[in-house]
Amino acid sequence: MHNQAEFYSELLAQTQALISDESDMIANMANVSALLFERLDNVNWVGFYRVIEEELVLGPFQGKVACIRIPLGKGVCGTCAATGDIQRISDVHQFDGHIACDAMSNAELVIPVQVNGKTIAVLDIDSTEYDRFNEQDEQGVSAIVTMFAQNLVAQQSDNV
Ligand code: SME
Repeated sequence: MHNQAEFYSELLAQTQALISDESDMIANMANVSALLFERLDNVNWVGFYRVIEEELVLGPFQGKVACIRIPLGKGVCGTCAATGDIQRISDVHQFDGHIACDAMSNAELVIPVQVNGKTIAVLDIDSTEYDRFNEQDEQGVSAIVTMFAQNLVAQQSDNV
Protein backbone atom coordinates (compact mmCIF):
# COMPACT_ATOMS: atom_id res chain seq x y z
CA MET A 1 0.00 0.00 0.00
CA HIS A 2 1.47 3.34 -1.02
CA ASN A 3 1.77 6.36 1.23
CA GLN A 4 -1.17 8.60 0.29
CA ALA A 5 0.56 11.90 1.16
CA GLU A 6 3.54 11.04 -1.06
CA PHE A 7 1.24 9.80 -3.80
CA TYR A 8 -0.73 13.06 -3.88
CA SER A 9 2.34 15.26 -3.69
CA GLU A 10 3.74 13.45 -6.74
CA LEU A 11 0.39 13.66 -8.53
CA LEU A 12 0.21 17.41 -7.83
CA ALA A 13 3.68 17.89 -9.34
CA GLN A 14 2.74 15.80 -12.39
CA THR A 15 -0.46 17.78 -12.92
CA GLN A 16 1.40 21.05 -12.62
CA ALA A 17 3.97 19.93 -15.20
CA LEU A 18 1.14 18.93 -17.52
CA ILE A 19 -0.83 22.19 -17.46
CA SER A 20 1.50 25.01 -16.43
CA ASP A 21 2.51 26.00 -19.96
CA GLU A 22 -0.99 25.82 -21.40
CA SER A 23 -3.70 28.48 -21.21
CA ASP A 24 -6.59 26.62 -22.84
CA MET A 25 -8.92 25.53 -20.05
CA ILE A 26 -10.62 22.73 -22.02
CA ALA A 27 -7.30 21.19 -23.08
CA ASN A 28 -6.13 21.27 -19.46
CA MET A 29 -9.40 19.76 -18.21
CA ALA A 30 -8.99 16.95 -20.76
CA ASN A 31 -5.46 16.12 -19.65
CA VAL A 32 -6.20 16.40 -15.93
CA SER A 33 -9.16 14.00 -16.35
CA ALA A 34 -6.96 11.53 -18.20
CA LEU A 35 -4.14 11.75 -15.65
CA LEU A 36 -6.40 11.27 -12.62
CA PHE A 37 -8.33 8.45 -14.30
CA GLU A 38 -5.06 6.66 -15.00
CA ARG A 39 -3.43 7.25 -11.61
CA LEU A 40 -6.29 6.81 -9.13
CA ASP A 41 -7.22 3.26 -8.16
CA ASN A 42 -10.82 2.07 -8.40
CA VAL A 43 -12.38 5.02 -10.16
CA ASN A 44 -14.86 4.58 -13.00
CA TRP A 45 -15.43 8.22 -14.00
CA VAL A 46 -13.35 11.40 -13.75
CA GLY A 47 -14.34 14.65 -15.37
CA PHE A 48 -15.37 18.27 -15.27
CA TYR A 49 -18.70 20.03 -15.48
CA ARG A 50 -18.59 23.75 -16.30
CA VAL A 51 -21.00 26.26 -14.75
CA ILE A 52 -22.83 27.95 -17.61
CA GLU A 53 -25.67 30.25 -16.57
CA GLU A 54 -27.84 28.24 -14.16
CA GLU A 55 -26.60 24.81 -15.22
CA LEU A 56 -23.63 22.50 -15.12
CA VAL A 57 -22.63 21.44 -18.62
CA LEU A 58 -20.55 18.33 -19.25
CA GLY A 59 -16.90 19.02 -20.01
CA PRO A 60 -13.86 16.84 -20.70
CA PHE A 61 -14.01 13.47 -18.93
CA GLN A 62 -12.88 9.86 -18.89
CA GLY A 63 -15.43 7.08 -18.41
CA LYS A 64 -18.85 6.15 -19.69
CA VAL A 65 -21.12 8.68 -21.39
CA ALA A 66 -22.71 10.95 -18.76
CA CYS A 67 -25.58 13.37 -18.12
CA ILE A 68 -24.94 16.48 -20.23
CA ARG A 69 -26.76 19.17 -18.23
CA ILE A 70 -27.37 19.28 -14.47
CA PRO A 71 -29.31 22.17 -12.87
CA LEU A 72 -27.41 24.02 -10.10
CA GLY A 73 -28.44 22.55 -6.76
CA LYS A 74 -29.37 19.13 -8.17
CA GLY A 75 -27.46 15.94 -7.45
CA VAL A 76 -24.01 15.74 -5.91
CA CYS A 77 -22.35 17.89 -8.59
CA GLY A 78 -25.12 20.52 -8.62
CA THR A 79 -24.97 20.74 -4.81
CA CYS A 80 -21.21 21.28 -4.93
CA ALA A 81 -21.60 24.00 -7.57
CA ALA A 82 -24.46 25.75 -5.77
CA THR A 83 -22.86 25.74 -2.30
CA GLY A 84 -19.16 25.88 -3.23
CA ASP A 85 -18.61 23.06 -0.72
CA ILE A 86 -16.68 19.87 -1.46
CA GLN A 87 -18.95 16.82 -1.55
CA ARG A 88 -17.31 13.61 -0.33
CA ILE A 89 -20.02 10.97 -0.42
CA SER A 90 -19.35 7.41 0.76
CA ASP A 91 -22.68 6.04 -0.51
CA VAL A 92 -24.35 8.04 -3.26
CA HIS A 93 -27.57 6.05 -2.89
CA GLN A 94 -28.06 7.76 0.49
CA PHE A 95 -27.63 11.23 -1.08
CA ASP A 96 -30.98 12.91 -1.63
CA GLY A 97 -31.31 13.74 -5.32
CA HIS A 98 -28.25 11.84 -6.50
CA ILE A 99 -28.22 11.60 -10.30
CA ALA A 100 -27.27 8.10 -11.41
CA CYS A 101 -25.41 8.64 -14.69
CA ASP A 102 -23.62 5.34 -14.32
CA ALA A 103 -25.55 2.85 -12.18
CA MET A 104 -22.26 1.26 -11.15
CA SER A 105 -21.12 4.37 -9.20
CA ASN A 106 -21.39 4.04 -5.42
CA ALA A 107 -19.10 6.74 -4.03
CA GLU A 108 -18.32 10.22 -5.30
CA LEU A 109 -15.93 13.12 -4.65
CA VAL A 110 -16.81 16.51 -6.15
CA ILE A 111 -14.53 19.54 -5.78
CA PRO A 112 -15.41 23.09 -6.90
CA VAL A 113 -13.05 24.95 -9.24
CA GLN A 114 -13.10 28.48 -7.83
CA VAL A 115 -11.73 31.60 -9.49
CA ASN A 116 -11.99 34.90 -7.60
CA GLY A 117 -14.43 33.27 -5.17
CA LYS A 118 -16.74 32.10 -7.95
CA THR A 119 -17.33 28.43 -8.80
CA ILE A 120 -16.70 28.15 -12.53
CA ALA A 121 -16.65 24.34 -12.76
CA VAL A 122 -16.56 21.17 -10.66
CA LEU A 123 -14.30 18.14 -10.84
CA ASP A 124 -16.29 14.93 -10.31
CA ILE A 125 -14.70 11.57 -9.45
CA ASP A 126 -16.83 8.41 -9.16
CA SER A 127 -16.03 4.96 -7.82
CA THR A 128 -17.85 1.64 -7.71
CA GLU A 129 -16.31 1.10 -4.24
CA TYR A 130 -18.36 2.36 -1.28
CA ASP A 131 -16.43 4.75 0.97
CA ARG A 132 -13.67 4.95 -1.64
CA PHE A 133 -12.57 8.52 -0.79
CA ASN A 134 -11.02 9.41 2.56
CA GLU A 135 -9.88 12.73 4.01
CA GLN A 136 -6.49 12.44 2.30
CA ASP A 137 -8.11 11.90 -1.09
CA GLU A 138 -10.20 15.00 -0.47
CA GLN A 139 -7.15 17.07 0.48
CA GLY A 140 -4.99 15.65 -2.31
CA VAL A 141 -7.51 16.21 -5.10
CA SER A 142 -8.48 19.55 -3.65
CA ALA A 143 -4.84 20.75 -3.83
CA ILE A 144 -4.75 19.70 -7.50
CA VAL A 145 -7.97 21.60 -8.23
CA THR A 146 -6.69 24.71 -6.41
CA MET A 147 -3.52 24.62 -8.52
CA PHE A 148 -5.68 24.13 -11.65
CA ALA A 149 -7.66 27.28 -10.76
CA GLN A 150 -4.48 29.27 -10.01
CA ASN A 151 -3.09 28.25 -13.38
CA LEU A 152 -6.24 29.59 -15.08
CA VAL A 153 -5.74 32.96 -13.40
CA ALA A 154 -1.99 32.98 -14.09
CA GLN A 155 -2.58 32.19 -17.75
CA GLN A 156 -5.37 34.79 -17.90
CA SER A 157 -7.44 32.32 -19.83
CA ASP A 158 -10.19 33.73 -22.03
CA ASN A 159 -12.26 30.71 -21.11
CA VAL A 160 -13.16 31.74 -17.57
N1 SME B 1 -23.75 11.47 -9.99
C1 SME B 1 -23.59 12.86 -10.31
C2 SME B 1 -23.88 13.15 -11.75
C3 SME B 1 -22.69 13.18 -12.61
S1 SME B 1 -22.09 11.69 -12.97
O1 SME B 1 -21.79 10.86 -11.82
C4 SME B 1 -20.85 11.71 -14.05
C5 SME B 1 -24.46 13.73 -9.43
O2 SME B 1 -25.32 13.26 -8.70
O3 SME B 1 -24.27 14.92 -9.50
